Amino acid sequence: MKQALATITSNTEVMPKTHLIWVKAPDIAATAKPGQFIMVRCGRELLLRRPLSIHRVKEPDQLCFLFSVAGKGTFWLSQCKEGKNLDLLGPLGKGFTIDPTSKNLLLVAGGIGIAPLVFLAQQSLSQGHVVTLLHGATTASGLYPQQLLPPGVQFVITTEDGSAGNRGRITDILPNFFDWADQIYACGPVAMYQTIAAQRQKGPKKKSIQISLEVRMGCGLGACYGCTIKTRYGWRRVCQDGPIFELDKIIWEEVKI
Ligand SMILES: Cc1cc2nc3c(=O)[nH]c(=O)nc-3n(C[C@H](O)[C@H](O)[C@H](O)COP(=O)(O)OP(=O)(O)OC[C@H]3O[C@@H](n4cnc5c(N)ncnc54)[C@H](O)[C@@H]3O)c2cc1C
Ligand code: FES
Repeated sequence: MKQALATITSNTEVMPKTHLIWVKAPDIAATAKPGQFIMVRCGRELLLRRPLSIHRVKEPDQLCFLFSVAGKGTFWLSQCKEGKNLDLLGPLGKGFTIDPTSKNLLLVAGGIGIAPLVFLAQQSLSQGHVVTLLHGATTASGLYPQQLLPPGVQFVITTEDGSAGNRGRITDILPNFFDWADQIYACGPVAMYQTIAAQRQKGPKKKSIQISLEVRMGCGLGACYGCTIKTRYGWRRVCQDGPIFELDKIIWEEVKI
């Protein structure tokens, strides 16, 4: 884990109230794994850093994060201009694991949950896996721009209002891909995970489904115990033991976000 002053090389609003910030952070970019996150200091007034997933890396020294403006910290970040230095800590947490014998990887992104999955797609494709990314949003303007995806991803979209792709939620079409997938990865709201957990009871019980859990964090370093959740293995700190967990190890009734 490194602390770095990272210079912003671009800040673009790629979807409404959703920004993509590229920074130069060679030490973090060199060791980052998909599913890991960074803690970003958001101005002098906010005591706690904010956790953001590593969205993608670009050799030799850049990484980016994709975030929605949710409150004070992310608003502050959205206003930062090219050339500004950001204070980052990372890479943090445990990333996704890919079984080298798996061929077909299914990635399931609910809304801004696409943030950690694009890096996973980037790395999986470079290792020769076949990647299908299912992405759902409320309406077309909330969909991730396809041209920003690494080439080679099969991209399937849904919108709740039917303004692009199939009408409905991403979990409506997910069971169609269960047989195809050797491994499944998901990031999105808790309601999406609960639906997948219920679908799993009827479907691919033995298939691994790894999810990214985005609970509120204090330190991000394992010191404050503010992110502790009860799992089927016992108590776990999301920032240290996660944020990636096997779906069936989470006790959903215990997760408060
Ligand atoms: C490991 C991890 C990775 C994350 N990666 C991303 C990412 O790549 N892109 C992204 O947009 N967001 C991500 N988040 C969520 C992001 O950290 C929060 O949106 C951010 O901290 C909000 O800070 P704020 O100061 O803008 O809002 P605040 O003023 O702190 O809160 C505003 C609203 O956001 C909600 N909120 C705050 N923290 C979280 C959280 N952790 N999860 C869900 N809702 C929250 C609050 O309940 C409140 O309603 C991640 C969270 C974790 C734990
Ligand atoms: S956020 Fe402090 S222990 Fe996880």
